[in-house]
Amino acid sequence: MALFIDLFGYWSVILHGLSLVAQSMALGGALFLVLLAHPLAPRLGDPGPLLLRDTARITAWSAVALILCEAAGIALQTALLVGTIDLTVGNVLGADFAIAGMAKITCAVLLLLALGVRHARVQSACLLVIVLAALIAATLTTHAASRLENRGVLLILEGLHQLGAAIWIGGIPCFVLALARVHDGGGWRRVGARFSAMSIAGVGCILASGIAMSLLYIGSWQGFYGTPYGAMVGAKIALFLLLLALGAGNFLLVERLRRDPAVPVIRLKRFAEVEIGIGFAVFFAAASLTSAPPAVDFVGGEHGQAPASWNVIATHYAPRWPILASPPVGTLALPALHRELAAEAVEEGTPAPEVFPPGAGQLPPRNRADIAWSEVNHHWAGIIVLAIGLLALANQAGLRWARHWPLLFVGLAGFLFLRADPEIWPLGYEGLLDSLRDSEVFQHRLVVLLVLLLAWLEWRVRAGRLQGRPAALAFPVLSLLGGMLLLTHNHAGGSAQEQLVIELAHIPVALLAIVAAGARWLELRLAPPADRVAGWIWPLSFTLIALVLLMYRE
Ligand code: HEM
Repeated sequence: MALFIDLFGYWSVILHGLSLVAQSMALGGALFLVLLAHPLAPRLGDPGPLLLRDTARITAWSAVALILCEAAGIALQTALLVGTIDLTVGNVLGADFAIAGMAKITCAVLLLLALGVRHARVQSACLLVIVLAALIAATLTTHAASRLENRGVLLILEGLHQLGAAIWIGGIPCFVLALARVHDGGGWRRVGARFSAMSIAGVGCILASGIAMSLLYIGSWQGFYGTPYGAMVGAKIALFLLLLALGAGNFLLVERLRRDPAVPVIRLKRFAEVEIGIGFAVFFAAASLTSAPPAVDFVGGEHGQAPASWNVIATHYAPRWPILASPPVGTLALPALHRELAAEAVEEGTPAPEVFPPGAGQLPPRNRADIAWSEVNHHWAGIIVLAIGLLALANQAGLRWARHWPLLFVGLAGFLFLRADPEIWPLGYEGLLDSLRDSEVFQHRLVVLLVLLLAWLEWRVRAGRLQGRPAALAFPVLSLLGGMLLLTHNHAGGSAQEQLVIELAHIPVALLAIVAAGARWLELRLAPPADRVAGWIWPLSFTLIALVLLMYRE
């Protein structure tokens, strides 16, 4: 059970992120049917019925995914509660989270049934009622539901926020499919104009409720920059602005289409594809956000913590030379403790005790050497990523031999494998398989695999062996996954300030990885010369990631 508790924290955030994606695509698909597909289909000619069918299909599959995510979430939490506090399954299923989850499942099932209704008006009316019910259920698992103050207002704001997310981000996959189905300028103009209007409404809902919730959940500038919660809202705002920039680009293109139906729509499709990726990353940031206590609860030292002062942040970010000389592994807290206890055991003739076994849910000790070790890791990783960024820029500028830059990722993967968790084999005493019981080690190993896969695939692309094939898209997809993993990555233990410092380093790296992913996707999918600008943005993003890593301090 201890292992389960340890892994629960991480997996419940991932599951919540997946559930938010599925929910927004299911509700977004339903709203796309009601507000765009049904009204426009009769005026689109042959593509009309296909558009209706595709939208219904996406909505149905998203509803199925929502059912699976919610069921897994309920099962995970029920297993935890039954296993730790001796409650019966019946008791647990009566809890708010389970009722809200089952309500969402019911709405998803009703959505599937409503998609079978033939009469367009009746179907639309059913879908609108189901969307409303699902949004109400969704607010019951947010922070708002457990607040004593402003509970009613916060519940409405959470509902409005998730409605905006569904209309806009949840509707984009249907929009991309609609653009693929329609083949003439007039059709593109109609679909583009209607979805632009829906997106503007969605953005309005998100922004108004996002600002209001930030005022109520964060409450001060210090809460914004000085708490993990505030920092994660900052990450969401940055991703939101990225989405707005792409959305504005598409809005302007739709305006041009209004005047001239012959305008090529390739950029409209490609920007929308990138919006889907960034939108999904926002949902994982939102899931990570809701697993942290709101910033307002930090003020006054509640939770035994206080928001970091500007001084702490400024000192932390003050540029300093990177540390490249590593402390010996034996001076780190865990290996030192292990050596001490093993020596005692030899003296007493007893078997050596396990030191903080992985998955036991205990917070491992850390000393100054551990902090220096982690800083050296980030600085060397920064040097490797700097070489990758500069070589990729040189390759973009025409230096042919520099195209082998992805091979440096193999070096990075090896470095992370060796040094990310020094108490684990091969440097440490803990077995490799055993170590995977620790969610933090598990996340580090996942990053190593991701980096290796990226190195292998992108090198083959650069070497011209995978030109034009879907595998060439692996780099942007893996970079996006890396960014999303970093947004949900959690470091066990430590004070809020220690967690904040780590988050303040991870968030810029995550955002830049997501920018690099979007830019590389556009470089591969846009026609020249538009692809060229994108071709410079991702190596620059990597170079900036390197600078953030080189400035890393704990
Ligand atoms: C594309 C843009 C955005 C999307 C898709 C989005 C999505 C979401 C979702 C789905 C939630 C609910 C998570 C949950 O409770 O399970 C959420 C919560 C939240 N969002 Fe956003 N959001 C976006 C932009 C923003 C912006 C720009 C702000 C701030 C100005 C913001 C502030 C918040 C806050 C404060 C919460 C409350 C979390 C809590 O319950 O503690 N969001 N967001």
